[in-house]
Amino acid sequence: MCGIVAYIGKNDAYPILIKGLKRLEYRGYDSAGIALLDAGKVNLYKRQGKVSNLEEFVAGKNIAGHAGIGHTRWATHGPPNDVNAHPHFSNNEKIALIHNGIIENYNSLKEELIVRGYHFKSQTDTEVLVHLIDDIQKKENVDLAQAVRIALQNVIGAYAIVVISSDNPTQLIAARKSSPLVVGIGKENDFYLASDATPIIEYTNQVVYLEDEEVAVVDLVTGLNITNLRNQPKTPYVQELEMQLEALEKGGYEHFMLKEIHEQPRSIKDCFRGRLNASEGWVSLGGVKDYEQKMINAQRIIMVACGTSWHACLVGEYLFEDLARINVEVEYASEFRYRNPIINENDIVIAVSQSGETADTLAALELAKSKGATILGICNVVGSSISRITDAGSYTHAGPEIGVASTKAFTAQVTVLTLMALSLAHKKGTLSETKFRTMLSELEIIPEKVQRILERNSEIEEIAKIYKDATNALYLGRGSSFPVALEGALKLKEISYIHAEGYPAAEMKHGPIALIDEEMPVFVIATKGTSYEKVVSNIQEVKARKGKIIAIVTEGDTDVKAMADHVIEIPDTDEHLVPILATIPFQLLSYHIAVMRDCNVDQPRNLAKSVTVE
Ligand code: F6R
Repeated sequence: MCGIVAYIGKNDAYPILIKGLKRLEYRGYDSAGIALLDAGKVNLYKRQGKVSNLEEFVAGKNIAGHAGIGHTRWATHGPPNDVNAHPHFSNNEKIALIHNGIIENYNSLKEELIVRGYHFKSQTDTEVLVHLIDDIQKKENVDLAQAVRIALQNVIGAYAIVVISSDNPTQLIAARKSSPLVVGIGKENDFYLASDATPIIEYTNQVVYLEDEEVAVVDLVTGLNITNLRNQPKTPYVQELEMQLEALEKGGYEHFMLKEIHEQPRSIKDCFRGRLNASEGWVSLGGVKDYEQKMINAQRIIMVACGTSWHACLVGEYLFEDLARINVEVEYASEFRYRNPIINENDIVIAVSQSGETADTLAALELAKSKGATILGICNVVGSSISRITDAGSYTHAGPEIGVASTKAFTAQVTVLTLMALSLAHKKGTLSETKFRTMLSELEIIPEKVQRILERNSEIEEIAKIYKDATNALYLGRGSSFPVALEGALKLKEISYIHAEGYPAAEMKHGPIALIDEEMPVFVIATKGTSYEKVVSNIQEVKARKGKIIAIVTEGDTDVKAMADHVIEIPDTDEHLVPILATIPFQLLSYHIAVMRDCNVDQPRNLAKSVTVE
């Protein structure tokens, strides 16, 4: 949700900023802009639309400068247009600023600044910040960094900002609260700033993740200096990044989403590394090991998340309850945080988040923490805010996910939750040793089974051709396949803009059945297992109303094949592991349908990868 990149050093800033913005474009892509400091003047260029629009606009203009800031926007206040794009200028055009987050009290600040003679050009909340900093600097006669600190003390809301000024040509000033910001320490006495490490990794692996209410001054003369808002010094904690540059490239695939779908055999294996050994009969998640007994003793575990991660939690609920007999409640983070939930010290709250930055999930955790609960995290992005505020957690190790629609992060989340459930079940004694070992062996070969499904890509593409013009779709599943149905529907709607609903198959009779006619594709998970016969009955109900059935079935199934319009076979596995496999065909179907409809698969309209505003 908005991407920030900035550079100061000996090199030309422009190519670093543009490349960085392209890497960050998955965070927001309705407008983009840069400000470059050259010969004592800040040159500002911004354009509605993609970063490529900005590049075209800038062609032939002065792009010189060894310091600059860049921004790719996901609009919150004010529609996406050239004026509302960041950076925003002070009235004297000396200071420019980029911002990710929301300034909640911007209206009252704006009114005061207008009275003090400031002119506002945009409809954004961000513009108040630049005028406020300018006003404080003049009024209180302080340096720019101090003006930023004072300004931020007056602000309510979330921010990651970078400020550049023609009066301070050796400096960039950055600060964060509830929106991420990373400082990269370059090899040539230069500095990078970005919303995440993806624009930085090419140049340096030495980074500092800023904490809430920290202000960083990167200065070519005095280096990196971090303070809090009251100007008390903080010691930077320099970390080494392990991310590989290749992980950020498309690697020959047409889209990141397709690449990420195909990466799943590897990403699931990476998730197992050092945690699972079927031949020796153990599973262990080092990060949460010390909390396992507490989880076993807990009267309930609350899982909080949003979107796809929430679907992973629903799968987790089935696994924890069925395998480990531990009571789980799954909550939308956005609802949980505002519901005055009853939480106490005995509760364990697990947040599941790919980005580790989702504002609602983060706030839900903070609330739970304030009430004394133990808070744990399952995140993909190493060093993210959620992974830092939790008492303990497990990374999913799926690698960077660039496609806005989550794919490999989902299967990695489900994999971690499966490992956790198995470990808890084993420790608690709710699974026999034989069943436990069989499940470990089955889990260990899941990556090969995912690979076999991926090999059915062209068969799935053929089905996609038939349904690409549908206007509605229904996804049905029972048990732990119900969240897979929800996830299948979400994938279709978010990237192809076809209206889709996921339902527990048995609920169809209570309403959605009214929608079924010969135009309606119904995607059903009908794999072998406890509810197979019941799902078969649901399929018959759809067929009786002339609906089209596309069923995911276990290899060798003949019964559903005889009824369905199309089947996609997936390898047989333990019923608890079906969600990982059944998700893959839905991902491929959505992908192909979206491509055939000419949709922007990696950057669907109105969406952003990391939702850092509520
Ligand atoms: C859908 C999708 C979103 C995210 C949601 C939570 O494909 O990606 O629904 O799952 O915004 O994001 P994280 O997992 O980063 O907290």
